[in-house]
Amino acid sequence: MQPLLNIATRAARRAGDLIVRSMSRLDSLKIDSKGRNDFVTDIDRQSEADIIATIRRAHPDHAFHGEESGRSGESEYVWIIDPLDGTTNFLHGFPTFAVSIAVEHRGRLQHSVIYDPMRDELFTAERGHGARLNGKPIHVARIDTLAESLVSTGFPSRKRHDSPNIHFYHEFTLRSHGVRRAGSAALDLAYVASGRLEAFWEFNLNPWDTAAGILLVEEAGGAITDFAGGAFQLNSREVLASNGRIHAEMVSLFKDMFAGRDLAAIPTPREFAQKRAEKNK
Ligand code: IPD
Ligand code: CA
Ligand code: CA
Repeated sequence: MQPLLNIATRAARRAGDLIVRSMSRLDSLKIDSKGRNDFVTDIDRQSEADIIATIRRAHPDHAFHGEESGRSGESEYVWIIDPLDGTTNFLHGFPTFAVSIAVEHRGRLQHSVIYDPMRDELFTAERGHGARLNGKPIHVARIDTLAESLVSTGFPSRKRHDSPNIHFYHEFTLRSHGVRRAGSAALDLAYVASGRLEAFWEFNLNPWDTAAGILLVEEAGGAITDFAGGAFQLNSREVLASNGRIHAEMVSLFKDMFAGRDLAAIPTPREFAQKRAEKNK
């Protein structure tokens, strides 16, 4: 394994162990709120500090862009870190969360690791050398239509009222095998890379949510763009990742939905209640 990927793996496993150990004392965790529904715990901070310390021991001159500690250092190498992706799940003991670490060299993602400590699943990618799950090569799914696909999304922690995503959730639910909302964008991307999901989309993610997952999806043969099919940048406010085969169909659906075309009508709860009351008369 490439030395930088080796260090990323060691750091992610250590952080994962720390997170899992802390689950026995969830009740006594100190929880701060960055905003309504946006939480950070001591564990997020400890995990990030431990990851950075592990990497610094090997590369004292490298730079960091961590969710909790922000940017530090100046270097051609930048480590982009989400020390605990899925904090809300973690807080509830819902076992879907991960550690996400990516290494960028001269602005290009080169290596990445997403570690799910509950399932002991380590997803890794190296530019030009493919993607792996626990050492075995992984590939995106060979499904050609959205109608046969399982897809996923997430909702922003902040400013949920400003997000139209529930409309997209609704439309994709009606046009696919289903939409999952598991609560960890990093794992959503890792699952697209490993063929468990055909696609994932979300509004307003941050570089630390997507960096590692993007390289995984690309190296597993998938596609990543914004909702219009344009090139994805780490600071893009929209991410659409897929197996590539259903990408054009999804982009075209986003176009129609943004234009208000072909939206399926569902009854409002009030309309539904009225119908139910009429039936029961
Ligand atoms: C969150 C998760 C979630 C996504 C949110 C993210 P965090 O990250 O990835 O799936 O829907 O938009 O903020 O806050 O748990 O690191
Ligand atoms: Ca995150
Ligand atoms: Ca996080």
